[in-house]
Amino acid sequence: MHFGYYRAGANPLHRESMLEQMNAEVLARLHVDGIAEPRLLDLGCGLGATLRSFARRLPNARLSGVTRVPWQVEQSRALNEAAGCGERVCVLEGDYEDPSLLLGSVYDGVHALESSCHAQGADKALLLEQAHRLLRPGGRLVVCDGFLSSRRFVNRLQHRIYRRLCECWVIEELAQLGLFTQRLQQLGFREITVENLQMRVAPSVAHIPWVTLKFLLTDVVFGERAMTRARWNNIIAPVLLPLVSAPLGPMTYCMISATKI
Ligand SMILES: C[S@@+](CC[C@H](N)C(=O)[O-])C[C@H]1O[C@@H](n2cnc3c(N)ncnc32)[C@H](O)[C@@H]1O
Repeated sequence: MHFGYYRAGANPLHRESMLEQMNAEVLARLHVDGIAEPRLLDLGCGLGATLRSFARRLPNARLSGVTRVPWQVEQSRALNEAAGCGERVCVLEGDYEDPSLLLGSVYDGVHALESSCHAQGADKALLLEQAHRLLRPGGRLVVCDGFLSSRRFVNRLQHRIYRRLCECWVIEELAQLGLFTQRLQQLGFREITVENLQMRVAPSVAHIPWVTLKFLLTDVVFGERAMTRARWNNIIAPVLLPLVSAPLGPMTYCMISATKI
């Protein structure tokens, strides 16, 4: 699950439509209009919801996704079958930083929606190299995620909160915006566009306390799920998030798109 994209006039209480709008915004930036059978790849596809959304919008597209979590592969395949797009959407288990991944394949568009944060380093070099290798010349890359802007942490406490947030999300570090775009350029990407979506995602971020409380009540207090450390982390993370995000801190949510020349 990713954050939703709020458009003026939309209902900010309707979470699903904001999630779907985020998929639509990623697709719009992949520039596939006019391609008869676009080939698209989702690096870090989770349960494949974005791929199924693309499948509904692009009846001739060939869609692939990679996740390193085996149960996500199984579940996404079942969801794809149930949605009637099992033949066109292919989800594979793999590491998106592994240079042998999908050797010989080439795509019109590659995207990473809230999955690039799991890649190594402050510039996410290995992930971007992979995206570059897997795109055809003229192909588009879209990355949407939290980044660290050039602003500094206001003090050591805020930096410690950021480190705890990374622990909760099981990531090493967020990408640094400047280093990330510099790496894109070095790799030969052009038309690099950085859009700050902080205000666009704010309404869906506001849903987190309610969704978390609902999960706690239905699944843990009155349900059968145990309160594991990972679940605690999922509850703590949204509390920490605003303390390190703009306007209080350097973290910001961006959509970055680029073309491979
Ligand atoms: C927060 S989820 C986002 C899922 C999906 N993009 C969405 O928007 O719902 C992060 C995803 O990245 C995947 N991931 C993280 N590191 C990965 C890696 N090295 N190779 C492949 N997938 C990875 C995880 O398995 C997970 O599916």
